[in-house]
Amino acid sequence: MILGILLMAGKGERLESTLPKQYHLLGDKPVYLHTLERLLASQLFDGVLLVCEKSYLERVRSETASYGGVRAVEGGETRQESSYLGLLAAPQETAYVLIHDAVRPFVSTQILCNNICAVRESGAVDTCICSPDTIVHAPSGRHIQSIPKRSEYLLGQTPQTFSYTLICKAHEEAQARGVTDRSDDCSLVVDLGYKIQVVDGEKENFKITTAYDLEMARLLQLHSGAAKN
Ligand code: CTP
Ligand code: MG
Repeated sequence: MILGILLMAGKGERLESTLPKQYHLLGDKPVYLHTLERLLASQLFDGVLLVCEKSYLERVRSETASYGGVRAVEGGETRQESSYLGLLAAPQETAYVLIHDAVRPFVSTQILCNNICAVRESGAVDTCICSPDTIVHAPSGRHIQSIPKRSEYLLGQTPQTFSYTLICKAHEEAQARGVTDRSDDCSLVVDLGYKIQVVDGEKENFKITTAYDLEMARLLQLHSGAAKN
């Protein structure tokens, strides 16, 4: 069985709004419902789990009551914790999990398909794009220490997809080492010494982080709505 996990228990502090970004409207519905509908439309999943902050659980359950195969569970203080709580709530027969940020509403069927195909071969997959800008290494944020070869560095997006037993092991070993606040599931698997396969992401699959990103998402949504009509 293949499970989709949408992480949506964050507070969206960089957006500087009291309403977390996943609940802001994009057209006629909140951001996270767009993301959920992309997953459901792909027909690749046997179920989708929404990992939410406790005070939004009731709202999410009522907004998703009419979608089949969708469940909402409580998340944690850090993304890593939310991700682990999602894993713990997975059905016993789960073979693969695709973990996605609910605030990347433009994930395409192509990206989802690429992840599912690749995970069957390699057990661990990340979605990445090339950086159009030069990447500079500036540990202090003030002075450049080095400028690595751009072609060797990619930008990591989500989804990230894993064999269920591998990602559970990665989380449990990280916890045993006292690691609790990684913002990325792949990094836990890298720590195990496991190779992660890269599949192509897309620029449109950006993460809504700031108010500017939300505006961009609204424009893109309007544009793609117009294109369909
Ligand atoms: N996330 C989560 N649980 C947390 C923190 C984050 O499920 N405790 C989710 C977010 O809801 C989001 C995804 O992880 O869908 C990516 O995280 P990020 O963009 O950092 O979202 P926030 O943590 O909400 O934003 P910020 O860091 O600006 O507060
Ligand atoms: Mg965050």
